[in-house]
Amino acid sequence: MFETRLTQLLGIKYPIIQGGLQWLATSQLASAVSEAGGLGMISSLTFPDRESLRREIRLMRERTKNPFGVNLSMLPELTKGDRTEEILEVLLEERVPVVETSGRSPEPFVQKLKDHHIKLIHKVPSVRFAKKAESIGADAVAIVGFECGGHPGMDDVTSLVLIPLASQSLRIPVIAGGGIADGRGLVAALALGAEGVVMGTRFVLTEECPAHPAIKERFLRARETDTMLIQRSIRNVARVIRNKAAEITLSMEEKGATLEELMTVISGQMSKEAYQRGDTEGAIFACGQCVGLIHEIKSVKEVIEEMIREARVILQRLNQKIKN
Ligand SMILES: Cc1cc2nc3c(=O)[nH]c(=O)nc-3n(C[C@H](O)[C@H](O)[C@H](O)COP(=O)(O)O)c2cc1C
Repeated sequence: MFETRLTQLLGIKYPIIQGGLQWLATSQLASAVSEAGGLGMISSLTFPDRESLRREIRLMRERTKNPFGVNLSMLPELTKGDRTEEILEVLLEERVPVVETSGRSPEPFVQKLKDHHIKLIHKVPSVRFAKKAESIGADAVAIVGFECGGHPGMDDVTSLVLIPLASQSLRIPVIAGGGIADGRGLVAALALGAEGVVMGTRFVLTEECPAHPAIKERFLRARETDTMLIQRSIRNVARVIRNKAAEITLSMEEKGATLEELMTVISGQMSKEAYQRGDTEGAIFACGQCVGLIHEIKSVKEVIEEMIREARVILQRLNQKIKN
């Protein structure tokens, strides 16, 4: 019933993808998604060096025989400390089934991925970048709207507008992201022309997600109005949970802080430690507006199965409405 060109392309049961989740998307979470019939994704930058990433990919293969992906987030511009090259080498050597790229164009290494039979999903926040991704040979494009957790881009266009525009403009499958947390979102995305969904925030609130329980509790209490945008001043907009660290970042930006100054609050290392310690206020946590739709921490299997069940019921109801 939910077979699409995306499920066929990736060899998965349901058109549901867990997007990269920095510090959280380990094989523990990702394998649960793949086992439940979706596509789980390991976040490569969570692992400090080649060998730890390689170990995690191998652990993933022990945990599930189903297809999985690895997220490769790149900085908008090549900067010092960029690890794209070394990560790519591991992904090619390990021949992972799928790579999800984000942040900048994967053009320089598309051919290498193809040579290794690795499927490429490029994640973008605008139709312009989606078309570019198709033109350079991506197998599918994930398009994320303004409401998404993480990086919604600079254009402030919502999913409801981006999904149909991307779907009508591209020939390759479009995956919808941003604001999707349940079966209603899945049906809506398919209705708008997408062939699958990518979710981030919903998977943070699962039993398998390795975030400290205090962080999950903080997300659980959050409403749809409890996220905010930061980092516009450095052209790397991020939607995050509204907490002390995010408020400080925004006020520093308003006073013209430099990137170096901002890094004292937004550094990834601080988020990593805060996820472990359960420090809900002291660091930045990406979070989408759909956090307001989530009221329970569940296992990944429950999340996915409920989504599919709910989607089926909605389709029946809509069919009924049309008949009447
Ligand atoms: C906690 C968190 C961490 C994320 N980390 C990454 C990341 O490292 N790389 C990436 O490409 N996207 C990242 N994202 C974005 C997600 O993969 C996905 O595109 C987004 O969450 C979809 O929107 P939603 O939150 O409304 O589901 C992150 C999102 C969240 C909530």
